Amino acid sequence: MKWFVDQLSAWFATHGRDLPWRHDVTPYRVWVSEIMLQQTQVATVMPYFERWMTRFPTLESLAVADENDVFSLWQGLGYYRRARYLHQGAQYIIEHCHGDFPVELASLQKVPGIGAYTAGAIASMAFGQNVPAIDGNAERVLGRYFAIQGDLKKGTSRQTLEQCAHAIAAQGRAGIINQAIMDLGASLCGKKAQCETCPLTTHCQANLRQMTDVLPQKHTPTAKTPRICAALILKDTAGKVLVARQRPDQLLGGLWTFPTLELANDTVSKHNKELLLRSPRIALWHAWLKTHGLTAPLTSCTPSYVWIRHIFTHIDMLMTWDIAHYNTSISLEALTPDAALDQFDLVMQKSSTLDMQDHPSSTLMKKILAKL
Ligand code: ADE
Repeated sequence: MKWFVDQLSAWFATHGRDLPWRHDVTPYRVWVSEIMLQQTQVATVMPYFERWMTRFPTLESLAVADENDVFSLWQGLGYYRRARYLHQGAQYIIEHCHGDFPVELASLQKVPGIGAYTAGAIASMAFGQNVPAIDGNAERVLGRYFAIQGDLKKGTSRQTLEQCAHAIAAQGRAGIINQAIMDLGASLCGKKAQCETCPLTTHCQANLRQMTDVLPQKHTPTAKTPRICAALILKDTAGKVLVARQRPDQLLGGLWTFPTLELANDTVSKHNKELLLRSPRIALWHAWLKTHGLTAPLTSCTPSYVWIRHIFTHIDMLMTWDIAHYNTSISLEALTPDAALDQFDLVMQKSSTLDMQDHPSSTLMKKILAKL
């Protein structure tokens, strides 16, 4: 273990990446960067991280921020639940921890959105604790170095991985070593291992056994639920377009989208799905509008015949849209707010300014806007 730590820290001193969150290290900065880096590449995260720190330099400034501002800064990063977790997490720490970032692993994991990995990253990098932080990079580097067989996400393989990671962290300087493991996993020990230049090559069990291309073994990802949806681009006589806010419990909760209906999911038979996709949707939209207090009929409703595919963590979404016109100017007073929301969930936007600047929206909505 000592050899591993010595080799890796020497390599990190010359090959480690110079990243914004590695300067002025604070628990807040480590936390924000780690949440942004979940499922997102370092290069993509960097400008978002800088903008975030300019806009919300402290935990306090984030806790009191308007949710719309938080989502606005997140636009384009995807997996918006992470933005909500940061916002709620900041409020949690202010309310429950007197504004002081929790130090212990167990208390860190009580903060919304902080799991074992993020807790380990904050504890080791910001508080100097000798604990591991096992992300996908660490799974690959340690899984290969110790040639751990099986699915590293569960069972005895996971236990072995965690024991190895704890033993390495116990050697000291775990904050540095965890970051070195991440950098090695993001470079030489990527999907295709480059063992010739790796500082661990002489002791790496996967390399010695010529198993780097089969380790770590792939785990079977959970299947994504197929969903087929239609959106409504509804223009009124004043040329404004209706946008709605998703309820917090819905997909893309809190973000602004066009009114959306689910047409089919995996519980609908193939035959019925075909029918559903071909049927005119005007009656469905009339029903939707009625629940929001709009009872006048649409004067036209034309399908776009365009489908956009968008993959979320658990959902494989196919989306089309209809362009419809309303025969009056829709006043906000006429609209019925969604009972589940404490804020009004519908607004009319001038179609000329339909870039959703003031209404944080998802990448999926931006894909539709680009096609309009
Ligand atoms: N991936 C996840 N966390 C990271 C970090 N702190 N630095 C570089 N890459 C990472």
